Amino acid sequence: MPGIRILGTGHALPDRVVTNADLAKLMDTTDEWITQRTGIRERRWIVEGESATELSRLASLRAIESAGIDAGAIEAILYATTSPDHFAPGNGVFLQHALGLGPIPAIDIRTQCSGFVYSLSIADAYIKSGMFKTILVVGAEVLSTGMDATTRGRDTAVLFADGAGAVVVTREDDPAGSQVLAWDLHSDGAYAEKLWVDAPGSIYHPRNQAAHLENKMFPSMDGKEVFRQATTRMPESVQAVLNAAGKSTSDITLLIPHQANLRISELVQRRLELRNDQVYNNIDRLGNTTAATIPIALDECVRAGRLERGDLLALTAFGSGFLWGSALIRW
Ligand code: ACO
Repeated sequence: MPGIRILGTGHALPDRVVTNADLAKLMDTTDEWITQRTGIRERRWIVEGESATELSRLASLRAIESAGIDAGAIEAILYATTSPDHFAPGNGVFLQHALGLGPIPAIDIRTQCSGFVYSLSIADAYIKSGMFKTILVVGAEVLSTGMDATTRGRDTAVLFADGAGAVVVTREDDPAGSQVLAWDLHSDGAYAEKLWVDAPGSIYHPRNQAAHLENKMFPSMDGKEVFRQATTRMPESVQAVLNAAGKSTSDITLLIPHQANLRISELVQRRLELRNDQVYNNIDRLGNTTAATIPIALDECVRAGRLERGDLLALTAFGSGFLWGSALIRW
């Protein structure tokens, strides 16, 4: 069985920095409240004219360049997002066109904060089956334009942000080379309404209603339930991939948890008894970019030289759905 190698990584962020003090001008909140509860100090939000497609194009070009391949070698795009530029079609096709690629398949994956881990698992299966050899996997979001940036929406508006990350994944035939050692993927739709955006949705007749702007079109979150579930499910899931691969937490070189909230990441780290140098967080600078947090963080780690061939990399995600999952990768 061949493995998969992450051949190149890239990310792109909007230039506009939004600090907690900036948000305090829009809503009743304080830098102290946001920092204490979430660990976030600033985040990136786009300005008008920028888009998720453009951020993902830049992230993809950087990933392709670092992979050292010709863009024409990419055989498929897997695009994880909660916030496509348009309701339909998804963003994969906009990216395919923006990159000037041939008529390759471009698939949007809608599994929110777990989107990158799920997309990588699909790339792994495609490549192992022999269907494709080289795949571009993207996690990209523009969440800022969907926030209620007033006091009413302050519980979520302070969390979410914009950005894009991308990886080029290819087939690895050396059995001792890079590969994903284990996957762990789950969902529990009983919690779907605990973290969701209700509208627009086809359940409504008509789908688009001005009244929905009042209460249904902004993110709605049961913060306590998200905290409880995320801090249970992510450690469980990391433990599951470690068990499946016959490894233990002390073998982990680097864990990149979905950047939901620094307090969540800290409790996940404590529950897994990991040292600080084994866990990477950047939420203080970038906020929560949903499907983009893991590929952005991965690219930062790769460029900072945090990973060497043979290292054990764990990725874990939890989010809206609820959906959660992990990957254990021999780098
Ligand atoms: N600034 C100031 N006050 C705020 C803000 C804000 N930005 N947001 C909410 N509050 C207020 C609430 O209105 C509430 O006020 P009240 O007591 O007068 O009603 C008070 O702060 C406490 O809020 P609670 O919702 O009761 O919550 P708690 O004290 O548990 O903390 C928090 C809220 C930080 C959201 C917590 O539930 C949490 O950390 N949850 C995790 C959720 C999360 O981080 N999700 C990440 C995104 S989802 C994902 O990626 C998986």
